[in-house]
Amino acid sequence: MVYLDHAATTDVRPEVIADLTEELGSLGNPSSLHGHGRAARRTVEEARERLAGALGCTPHEVVFTGGGTESDNIAVKGLYWSRNAEDQARRRILVSAVEHHAVLDPAHWMADHQGAVFEALPVDGAGRVDPRALRDAIERDPGSVALVSVMWANNEVGTVQPVAELAAVAAEHGVPFHTDAVQAVGAEPVDFATSGVSALTVSGHKLGGPVGAGALVVGRGLAPVPVLHGGGQERDIRSGSLSTPLLRGLATAVDLAVAEREEHAKHLASLRDDLEERVRAEVPDVVVNGDPDGRLPGISHLSFPGCEGDALLMLLDARGISCSTGSACSAGVAQPSHVLLSMGADPDTALSSLRLSLGRTSAPEDVAALAGAIGPAVERARAARAKRRR
Ligand SMILES: Cc1ncc(COP(=O)(O)O)c(C=O)c1O
Repeated sequence: MVYLDHAATTDVRPEVIADLTEELGSLGNPSSLHGHGRAARRTVEEARERLAGALGCTPHEVVFTGGGTESDNIAVKGLYWSRNAEDQARRRILVSAVEHHAVLDPAHWMADHQGAVFEALPVDGAGRVDPRALRDAIERDPGSVALVSVMWANNEVGTVQPVAELAAVAAEHGVPFHTDAVQAVGAEPVDFATSGVSALTVSGHKLGGPVGAGALVVGRGLAPVPVLHGGGQERDIRSGSLSTPLLRGLATAVDLAVAEREEHAKHLASLRDDLEERVRAEVPDVVVNGDPDGRLPGISHLSFPGCEGDALLMLLDARGISCSTGSACSAGVAQPSHVLLSMGADPDTALSSLRLSLGRTSAPEDVAALAGAIGPAVERARAARAKRRR
């Protein structure tokens, strides 16, 4: 079996499995005042310190959550509510057109149900937001902007955004800037303090940690209104009992991913370059998507003219190779990816794409297996499509 879908989720590291296993046997709620509780609290606070050290923020700025989706929801909804409560003129939510649904959908929901105004920031053909486009959007009416959210790196095509430049534009106008760094941590140098962002999302299961654990880094001076109400944990921003095992595992994963980043990124980039070269040798008209000058080392997003991505995915799956199309399925019909469409691709091209993503356990044999399977798969997918169209 060959796994080329590490951007969807990746192997839990052995060090993390050891942490989880040990901690699952420990008793105590970190919020309890007795000895068991205090021991659990110590573990959670150590995890907070390690996470903060790895991400370049202070421990106080770390809010533990149940993962990327939850962090993004708190950022978009919570920051909107707090900014709008201070000044009701602040109704615009500016988000890049290529955000993950964990940002896009809460932003749309706020527009549909909470009186917000949704505004998509355009991207160029490489999927990049031009800081001038953000400046233009804010300066049209700075007093009406509630928040900006632009991801650090895109989960489909891997394009890395000029986050520090974008954050600086927002800061000039005192507008909070959130970034979804779920795909970036461990692949790109991510430092909260020097990036100038106001809030940052990280998720455990994309970098060797457990699924269901993540964090929202919330900079000083921001107080997102909670989405969940309850016991008041995590400075009242995210109520709910803290999972000592998951948070210890999350901290270990982030710590190791950041410490090993440079070497890891080199390894991934070399495998990816080899993969693209070998696929091009089999399918000369393949198109590589994303920003050639700034994309994640482990993602190769490819369009195969004349094919349907779904058909390719199934044909590769039949050969034991797991990958992704990136396109959503609605009522059984594949929908072209909003990311590709925003980058200017026509729907047919968008639907002809595959995302092949590499991770810590990827090896040259995985690339070789794909190279051996892709030619015949493309041929069959093309023939099937041509037959259907006749
Ligand atoms: C960029 C990005 N943001 C958010 C998420 C959601 O994170 P989680 O699966 O931890 O909820 C993902 C995962 O698919 C992602 O790739």
